[in-house]
Amino acid sequence: MNMPSQHPSIIAIDGPAASGKSTIGLRLANALGYLFFDTGVMYRAVTWLALERGLDIRDEAALTALAEEAQIDVAPASRSDGRTCDVLVNGQDITWETRSRNVDANVSPVSAYRGVRSALTEQQRRIGLRGDVVMVGRDIGTVVLPDADLKIYLDATPEERARRRYEEILVRGGEADYDEILRKVRERDRIDSTRDVAPLKAAQDAIVVDSDQLTADEVFEQVLALVK
Ligand code: DC
Repeated sequence: MNMPSQHPSIIAIDGPAASGKSTIGLRLANALGYLFFDTGVMYRAVTWLALERGLDIRDEAALTALAEEAQIDVAPASRSDGRTCDVLVNGQDITWETRSRNVDANVSPVSAYRGVRSALTEQQRRIGLRGDVVMVGRDIGTVVLPDADLKIYLDATPEERARRRYEEILVRGGEADYDEILRKVRERDRIDSTRDVAPLKAAQDAIVVDSDQLTADEVFEQVLALVK
């Protein structure tokens, strides 16, 4: 006999860059004993591979072929060095490479290509449909898993998201320019939400959580309450 599941099995969290999706998604997955899957790392992995091979980022056909052929694996974090998961491409651990400035600067145009999206969406859907998963991205509730049991859209103003990113860098001992970060956040928002294929937007049945006035703990409590 099948027992009814206590919690939603497939949870989609979407939202703009630096809205806290990964932090909240990972905490939620850990609390529920679910797989955490950050789909942005797949777009980052394809972008890194293209740069590594010296491909022209504007070459949509070459980028599509790369997304179709690359063996991208996302696995639970094997080290406690701040990573939320391991990212492997053709067997090589490129977790930190996918966070480089160069990847940051090129990933939005790459993720706008229809062929790239369809190759990666298919892989993401296959993993998501196994259930007991918290999947994080831009189009999970709208395109990848439209039948997800719970859809959350995590939002915050560009200024607040830039401020959080700025502080993250300072805490790690790095140097940062707030105005430059804000400009980049806005630029990525613009590309992600105006592209033709699977643009960033809340699904009609998503619950929007506005995190501007909330701490990370408060956002987590709100999201956990929605799950329960
Ligand atoms: O969440 P992130 O910053 O790691 O995402 C990197 C890029 O990938 C970002 O420009 C948007 C894109 N992306 C997407 O288009 N669809 C997803 N499901 C996840 C990320």
